[in-house]
Amino acid sequence: MKRLLRVLSVACIAAAPMLLPATAAAQFAKPEDAVKYRQSALTVMSSHFGRIAPVVRGQQPYDAAQVKADVAIVAMMSKLPWSAFGPGTEGGGAKPAVWSDNARFKQGQERLHGDIDKLVAAADTGDLAQVRTAYGAVAASCKACHDNFRNR
Ligand code: HEC
Repeated sequence: MKRLLRVLSVACIAAAPMLLPATAAAQFAKPEDAVKYRQSALTVMSSHFGRIAPVVRGQQPYDAAQVKADVAIVAMMSKLPWSAFGPGTEGGGAKPAVWSDNARFKQGQERLHGDIDKLVAAADTGDLAQVRTAYGAVAASCKACHDNFRNR
């Protein structure tokens, strides 16, 4: 029994480094992989965000459950791109300012997350007027960051 415990504890110590979160850079084998990953996440986020546009413009009937489902995907996908902007992954459609003015880039992410939290809450109410207001704030967050950090 004692020996088994010792073997187990040695095994746990040996496995510990593998359980530590990998650094952002180590998540991708090549910089191109990071670019592809962040662009893919942004594309999926944008697709689901865009599906809500005709609803808030009154061009499509308001299906509260559908909007809630799309907003949930936007919220989830919005967490993913940022770890793929690590050092050495310059390029894609990103301006050099992402790296040279990284604190401001991070502020843009925080603004987005704050506005998406409000959109999630608005979608939960089932009230189109609230969804419309919150949607507009998120769209402004997208645009503000793109103006500074994304190539046209
Ligand atoms: C904190 C900054 C920031 C915010 C906020 C942001 N984006 Fe972007 N977005 C970028 C950058 C930088 C790129 C360029 C990424 C690249 O090509 O490497 C980009 C690229 C994209 C792309 C192109 C992806 C591709 O395939 O090339 C889409 C679509 C997009 N964003 C949609 C959105 C939408 C929709 C929102 C808001 C819901 C949003 N973004 C919010 C910074 C941001």
